[in-house]
Amino acid sequence: MDVQLESVRVLLIDDDEDDFLLTRELVSDIPGGRFRLDWTPTYAAGVEAVCAGGHDVFLVDYQLGARTGIELLRETRERGRSGPVILFTGQGHSRTDMEALDAGADDYLEKAGLTPALLDRSIRFALVQHRASAVLERKVKERTDELARANAALRDADRRKDEFLATLAHELRNPLAPIRNALEILRLANDTGDTVRRQRERLERQVAQLVRLVDDLLDVSRITSGKLRLTTEPLTIQEVIEAALDMSRPQIEKAKLTLTAEVRQEPVKLTGDRVRLTQVFTNILNNAAKFTEPGGRVWLSVAPAPGAVRVSVRDTGVGIPADVLPVVFALFTQVDRSLNRSQGGLGIGLALVRRLVEMHQGTVTAESDGPGKGATFTVTLPTALEVA
Ligand SMILES: Nc1ncnc2c1ncn2[C@@H]1O[C@H](COP(=O)(O)OP(=O)(O)OP(=O)(O)O)[C@@H](O)[C@H]1O
Ligand SMILES: [Mg+2]
Repeated sequence: MDVQLESVRVLLIDDDEDDFLLTRELVSDIPGGRFRLDWTPTYAAGVEAVCAGGHDVFLVDYQLGARTGIELLRETRERGRSGPVILFTGQGHSRTDMEALDAGADDYLEKAGLTPALLDRSIRFALVQHRASAVLERKVKERTDELARANAALRDADRRKDEFLATLAHELRNPLAPIRNALEILRLANDTGDTVRRQRERLERQVAQLVRLVDDLLDVSRITSGKLRLTTEPLTIQEVIEAALDMSRPQIEKAKLTLTAEVRQEPVKLTGDRVRLTQVFTNILNNAAKFTEPGGRVWLSVAPAPGAVRVSVRDTGVGIPADVLPVVFALFTQVDRSLNRSQGGLGIGLALVRRLVEMHQGTVTAESDGPGKGATFTVTLPTALEVA
């Protein structure tokens, strides 16, 4: 590539005046006479000149009194050097050559055997290469800044969303307590009117559903803000599963499903939060009830695993598409929102399941052979170590 250059200001940093005279001769022999050579004999003045950027190209000798050209390269780079630098190295010093490039030299030249043509080519090469890399660097920087800004905006939005969720949950929770109290008073007043009783029961069911949603929302915001705490105690997986089955039975019966629970007789001990672990299995069982057509089946089984216990809940329901499986535990994931509108829910249950299981050092997985093929959720929890 032939780059037409106007007048190029070249600065030689070299402590040897003979070398300056020699280089000046070489430069003057370069056809076209485009290069104007200045000279600085000391390291310190050289550093200042490179940083000042008053020249287009810098030729730097390897030996500069007690210092070296490599040191000059490093020092000026730290100070944000912007111009191209060519280092003069000794003959066959390939290690120095590599060092020079590492320290940010644009090129290196052996002093011995230097010709006007070589010097010309090297200066033009350094200029072109330096401009190209400056453009690239600027583009990378612009892009990085852009990404950083986008990232900050996203993080900000995410934080505001979390704050909003927390506020929303608290605001929704406030009126629920007095509504529940009023219903309780109505119940105790024991109005014999059938209509009043039916409407009251209807209100009670709706309020219970609202309370559940709001409590889930509160749990989610506690989890995202790291405020959820476990209250652990020694327990058995059987107790937890019995409690979860009791909680889910109404939903399973309402959905007209046949439930088979194979709970191993030998109690499996573990340490955990009774309420939260019950919530884990209740959420999974409620999902099975929610996403399985009437007449379907649900199996719950408990199996030992090394140092752990494995609980699986399998159903014959609508199943989960392969592309949703990897994100099914992510907050607000729902396969079919129209179905969920009729069934209720916000897509929070499984996110809570995963977080709570992880807080117990356990894992949870979802499997499905696809839409219409049912789903299996498996929770693995470490068992309590028997102290001998
Ligand atoms: N047993 C299952 N069979 C088929 N799909 C399921 C099953 N369990 C969960 N899913 C899918 O995963 C999604 C997320 O479940 P998750 O429990 O988190 O939310 P949800 O049940 O929709 O609402 P919420 O639990 O907050 O009331 C569901 O909306 C559903 O699409
Ligand atoms: Mg759910």
